[in-house]
Amino acid sequence: MKEQLELIKSNALTALDAAETPAALEELRVKLLGKKGELTAVLKQMGKLSPEERPVMGQMANSVRSAIEEKLEERKTAIHAAVLEAKLAAEAIDVTIPGETVAMGHQHPMNMVLQEIKDIFVGMGYTVVDGPEVELASYNFTRLNIEEGHPSRDRSDTFYFDDNNEILLRTQTSPMQIRYMENHKPPLCMLAPGRVFRKDEADATHSPMFHQIEGLVVAEDITMGDLKGALINIMQKIYGHDAQVRFRPHHFPFTEPSCEMDMQCHKCHGTGEVDGKVCSTCHGEGWIELLGAGMVHPKVLENCGIDPEKYSGFAFGIGLERTAMGRLKINDLRLIFDNDVRFLNQF
Ligand code: DAH
Repeated sequence: MKEQLELIKSNALTALDAAETPAALEELRVKLLGKKGELTAVLKQMGKLSPEERPVMGQMANSVRSAIEEKLEERKTAIHAAVLEAKLAAEAIDVTIPGETVAMGHQHPMNMVLQEIKDIFVGMGYTVVDGPEVELASYNFTRLNIEEGHPSRDRSDTFYFDDNNEILLRTQTSPMQIRYMENHKPPLCMLAPGRVFRKDEADATHSPMFHQIEGLVVAEDITMGDLKGALINIMQKIYGHDAQVRFRPHHFPFTEPSCEMDMQCHKCHGTGEVDGKVCSTCHGEGWIELLGAGMVHPKVLENCGIDPEKYSGFAFGIGLERTAMGRLKINDLRLIFDNDVRFLNQF
C-alpha cells in the first residue's frame, strides 16, 4: 500500500506538471481526488490493514493528498497567468500605427459667403429671420405695391400652384418685408436670406432657383444716405476697401426712389473683354448687378400699419450667388449648383 501511495503521488505530480489547460487540470483533479479517484480507491482498502498500520497509512495518504492539492493549486495559478498572458499578447494594439484619416466635408462655398454676410449685418444690429418659400401673391406682390397685370406676376415668369394666381413659389425675398413689419414696429432692422424661384433659363448668371438676402431698416429720419452708407460698408467688408461699386437709378414698385448697385466684374476688371473676346461672366458689361434697393414706398409702410409721415426706411435685395461669385472669383453661376466635388474642394 505504501508503494501504491508513492506511485500515485509521483505519477500525479508528473501528470500535473504536464497539464497545460484549466480543462486538463480539472480532469486530473477528478481522476486523482474524486470519489471514484485513485486515492479514494486506495483508502477504501484501509479496512484490510492491521490496527498498527492504519494510522501510519492514514497519515501517509493525507500527505499524498496535500501534496497533490498543493501542486494543483500551483499549476492552476501558473496556467491562469499563462492564459492571461496569451490573451493580452493576442489583443495587443500598436498605438504608434498611423490612424486612417476620415475625409471631412466643409460648408458649401455659397453658405460660407452667406455666413460672412450675416455676420457683418448682425454686427450692424440687424436681426436675421427666415420665411416661407411657398408664399401668397398678396405678400409676394400686392402688399408690395405690385399691381395686378404687372409683368412679374405673369404665369410665364412665376411658378404658381393654383389657377387663380394666389399661391406661388416666392419670386423674391421682399415679401419678408411685409411679414416682418406685420409683427414688428419701428425702429427695426432685419435681414432675411432665402431661396427664390423664377422661370429663368440657366446661363452663366441666371438660374430658376437662386438666393437673395433681403434687408429692411425702418425708423425715424432714415434717408438714402443711410442706404448708400450701409451698402458701401458691407461691400467693402466683403470685397475689400478698394471694391468698385456703382449705383444706377432703377424702378421697383415697393421703393421710391429705387436703384440698383453693380460690382465691377471680377473676370474682366470692368473692361468687358477677356483675351479679345466678350467677357462671358458679365456679358461684356464690365459690371455685375448685385442688388436692388431703395427707400420703402409710403404705400408699403401703410399696408403694414406704419405711419409714413412719421417713419421712413430703406430696403435692399442682394443676389447671393452673384455676390459669392465675385467674392470667390467663380466665373459661372451653374458651378455653384452642380455640386461637383472637384469644384467644391477648391474652397
Ligand atoms: N426684390 C427685388 C428683386 O428681386 C430686389 C429688391 C429691390 C429688393 C429693391 C428690395 C428693394 O428690398 O428695395 O429684383
